[in-house]
Amino acid sequence: MTRLVRTEAVVEGRVEERWTLVEDDQTPEYQTDEPTGPVGQPATRLTGATRASGAAVYTADVQLPGMLEARVLRSPHANARVVSLDLDAARAVHGIRAVLGPGEQPQLEGSPLLGDAPRYAGAAVAAVAADNAAAAELALEALAPVYEPLGFVTDMDEAFAQQNILGEPSETVRGDPDAALAAAPVKIEAEYLAPAQLHNPLETHCAVAAWRADELTVWVSTQAIYGAQADLASEMGLDREHVRVICQYMGGGFGAKFGAGPEAILAAALSRESRRPVRLVLSRREENQVAGFRTPARVTFAIGADTDGTLQAIEASAVMGLGDDGWAFPVLEPAKSLYSCPNLRAMVVPVRQNLGPAAAFRAPGVMEGTWALEQALDELAEKAGVDPIELRRRNHADVDPGTDRQYTSKRLLEAYDRAAELAGWDNRDQLRADSNGRIKRGMGVASQYWWGGGGPPAYAEVRIGKEARPVLSVGLQDLGTGTITACAITAAERLGVRVEDVTVLAGDTSRMGHGPFSGGSMTLASIAPAVRSAGHRVRVQLLELAADLFEISASDLVLVDGEVRSVDGTLRAPLTDVTGKLGSAWVTASGSRSPNPAGMAVNTFGCQIAQVVVDTWTGVVRVEKIVAVHDVGRIVNPMGARSQVNGGILQGIGFALMEERVVDPTTGTLVNPGLEDYKIPTMADLPEIVCEFVGTPDPELAMGIKGLGEPPIIPTAGAIGNAIAHATGVRLREAPYTPRRVLEGLAG
Ligand code: MOS
Repeated sequence: MTRLVRTEAVVEGRVEERWTLVEDDQTPEYQTDEPTGPVGQPATRLTGATRASGAAVYTADVQLPGMLEARVLRSPHANARVVSLDLDAARAVHGIRAVLGPGEQPQLEGSPLLGDAPRYAGAAVAAVAADNAAAAELALEALAPVYEPLGFVTDMDEAFAQQNILGEPSETVRGDPDAALAAAPVKIEAEYLAPAQLHNPLETHCAVAAWRADELTVWVSTQAIYGAQADLASEMGLDREHVRVICQYMGGGFGAKFGAGPEAILAAALSRESRRPVRLVLSRREENQVAGFRTPARVTFAIGADTDGTLQAIEASAVMGLGDDGWAFPVLEPAKSLYSCPNLRAMVVPVRQNLGPAAAFRAPGVMEGTWALEQALDELAEKAGVDPIELRRRNHADVDPGTDRQYTSKRLLEAYDRAAELAGWDNRDQLRADSNGRIKRGMGVASQYWWGGGGPPAYAEVRIGKEARPVLSVGLQDLGTGTITACAITAAERLGVRVEDVTVLAGDTSRMGHGPFSGGSMTLASIAPAVRSAGHRVRVQLLELAADLFEISASDLVLVDGEVRSVDGTLRAPLTDVTGKLGSAWVTASGSRSPNPAGMAVNTFGCQIAQVVVDTWTGVVRVEKIVAVHDVGRIVNPMGARSQVNGGILQGIGFALMEERVVDPTTGTLVNPGLEDYKIPTMADLPEIVCEFVGTPDPELAMGIKGLGEPPIIPTAGAIGNAIAHATGVRLREAPYTPRRVLEGLAG
């Protein structure tokens, strides 16, 4: 039986209500003592060899007969009016097949993609498609744009001073923060400034579009193939069924690649105009000018506590710079929800600047908000004379502070214990005492809070034929996290086959089984139960076939290691003995994700401890070790999970030590849009990482899985900041902690 249910999902802090279709699900949950087979065993990535050998076809690798190259004319000015543009000259360039200028433009979500009043450097004015890149570049020159430059504001504080507010400031109040703050015996005030961090996925935004009659096929690097399909259908005036979106392999997105993006819409529009396939690939410079960033934020706190460090009041405000567009990422969510605190005021003011639009970036808001809060909390711990971990324990939230809801599971206290043990926290003052005059070591802690519960809608289809090699179909994309491998593991367990014997069809909207976007740390927790359910239904059918064949009751049979076995051990036959009888038929089944329990808070938690070494002569900070202990529920693939933790920590180190978008205030343009100037961490910056999970399967959630994509980046930078303060006695309040800032801090 299928039914429609109303469900609630928290997507990166925004509550979404959805109607979803779910099938009646008889799939039993794993029992606590039940062996879960390949689920929970480390597995290498199914697509690893294909990727590493170069055989994988990424979007930019797609080659179609007659395919054109597209280029975009972008404003060099932070704010301007286009006075003249020679579209005819561009059209006259040899090899040019399509030219789109302002006014004849496609749109995305109601906003024109090409305009004659660019509001930031890099804003698109016109787009061309030509037989080759050289002709496209010539056409851009032939456009000979003349601009009238206008005044602009790129500085966040100046934008705030001018009250360039984007959207509505938001305020949350709990209790009586003013009175509680006035009465608190221990108080700190602190201001933190977070930089704009650029996503820099290895693969820049790109798309290839091809029309055939009224059917549109688009390859696009996207975290949401169905979102891209919906965007393209609505902008091109097509039924969804006439738009096919393909994203088979992807080189990361980190939150900046939801939906079709301007690149896919422009490629589709140029393709329609030229009647040829069109490829549009952003250069690294374009990527970093226009494709999004983690919002810079100025966060201030006044925190009041009892003498034992028990929080009484938090007064927090944040100004965040969204550039041209974006939403108010939940930068004060940690202040609201990470700890128990009866009195709170949290005010967020998003401002508009003449810069490209912001985009979600791995734990948007929460990562930089945690970085600020966790250091302010250490300032409080120091003032109260309480050990930083002890302070966090004392303020542990037993229920969700914002909603008073029970958590489905929370093992944060265990995470503190385990991390402290693994890091040698009790010896941290000895570590500092061992420092010599020049080289100083220290250790710092930070907590992690995030959402990450999956939910419907998510659907999967499984089929198995005579070779007993199951085919799993899921309508989702793998942005590089290993979701596809985790899906194969889940199906393999139900069918008793090897993980590598499962073929996963994904990354294509023409596949069966509508799946979730890759974001909000929700993907696997959403899709895996649907895969398990489909796999289970196929398992039940196979066992019934085997029961007929071997004349044993199906309830006495199991599927394991490619065999049908009776529980009493008398029967052991290859699964192909059963499937071999299928001839050209398949046994098939579908599965869907059931809703989470209503009225409960689904959150992930964790704790990281950083050990750093600071060279006080050069200002260079090195992270020696990160201990990461997270509660993210059941781990499907420990190897994949560890890889997510490594990646999150490395990106957190980037934020803490080196990553920073620099804007020239005199021209309003980016000084460091390329990877030669914008520093990101490399393997040489990788510390020793000790990674553990305290999360046993969540008892309230399907398969017990919570999300993992975002949690590991959240506490890293805060822990590093606290470690630097522990090592040097100097609190740095502006990231990244470059040698210059460290030396300035040390100089007082
Ligand atoms: Mo994300 S920032 O949910 O990809």
